[in-house]
Amino acid sequence: MKKIGVLFGMENTFPGALVERINSMHLDDIVAEFVQVGGVRLDKPPAYSVIVDRISHDIPFYRAFLKHAVLHGTTVINNPFWWSADDKFFNYSLAAKLGVAVPPTVILPHKHYPEGTTERSMRNLEYPLDWEGIFEYIGFPAFLKPVDGGGWRDVYHVHNREELFRAYDQSRDLCMTLQGAVKFNEYFRCYVVGQEKVRIMPYDPRRPHAERYVLDPPQYDKKLLKRVEQDARKLCKALGYDLNTVEFAVENGIPYAIDFMNPAPDADLHSVGPENFKWIVDAVAELAVKKANTAKDVAGEFHWGAYLSAGAEKNSAKKASAKKKASAKKKSAKVSSKIEAGIVSE
Ligand SMILES: Nc1ncnc2c1ncn2[C@@H]1O[C@H](COP(=O)(O)OP(=O)(O)O)[C@@H](O)[C@H]1O
Ligand SMILES: [Mg+2]
Repeated sequence: MKKIGVLFGMENTFPGALVERINSMHLDDIVAEFVQVGGVRLDKPPAYSVIVDRISHDIPFYRAFLKHAVLHGTTVINNPFWWSADDKFFNYSLAAKLGVAVPPTVILPHKHYPEGTTERSMRNLEYPLDWEGIFEYIGFPAFLKPVDGGGWRDVYHVHNREELFRAYDQSRDLCMTLQGAVKFNEYFRCYVVGQEKVRIMPYDPRRPHAERYVLDPPQYDKKLLKRVEQDARKLCKALGYDLNTVEFAVENGIPYAIDFMNPAPDADLHSVGPENFKWIVDAVAELAVKKANTAKDVAGEFHWGAYLSAGAEKNSAKKASAKKKASAKKKSAKVSSKIEAGIVSE
């Protein structure tokens, strides 16, 4: 019997609904449950074929357990190696390379020295910073936010240099990004599941927290929605996330990718609403079952690249072998037609 485990923190609605949904499929060889974990032993492979991880970003013990699980063949949604390697500035940089619109963005050196470092540790840093050049590139208003943030923590909306310096002074030893503000009309949060399925959710970040998902949206331009969908998928494919939300702020019809490092996205019934909730529970349940059914093996490939693509390499290997087969078939068809025409002999 294969097990799908759900690892979660304070959330209440999604984990239970996911377990219930998978078990309601009544599959012969797959069962879902909440993960149980204690002292993790080197010599005991974890009992799960798939783990849906909603919390390891907050709990290093869980992250270490999940990396060990991947090494033993568990597929983790999302891949803990990718997630550990990721940050917002890399995301923006990648988006720009992929041709997805992003606002002008810089990262800034830490305002306060990280613990255990001194002025002497910082001798590679330009001082003073070229603030004029930075302001010219970014413009105002702007957002100052952590490179490794989430949940709107330490996010500052600044309208001029005085506000920026005040916010920067409060940023402690965090690494901060400064980003031009998108003056948006529309704003979307998109669930992307399995790097394929996309659900676009109109969202208004200016409203109070509980009312942000717009449940009675206006009609949007179809072309805009198509681009949002394609860009969201493109980003998640490149990032290797199987579950993510991608946020776009739309100015003059251009969707700017704002935040797409949400590998444990909000999936609470009370914030996303019943329809979005049903969609995400169904989509993640189907994905987890699909992953449980796809046996995979990272053993024997002990290098980081293998872990970063763990859970995906089987597919690409399959595709490559299908391609090979198709081209062999084509070749043999060509050869046999040539034989028929008397051009070659076998
Ligand atoms: N460049 C931007 N333009 C407009 N709004 C922004 C921009 N950056 C952030 N915001 C606003 O701030 C919120 C939090 O920023 P975000 O990058 O999503 O951080 P977090 O990861 O903490 O959610 C966004 O949902 C959006 O409302
Ligand atoms: Mg966000």
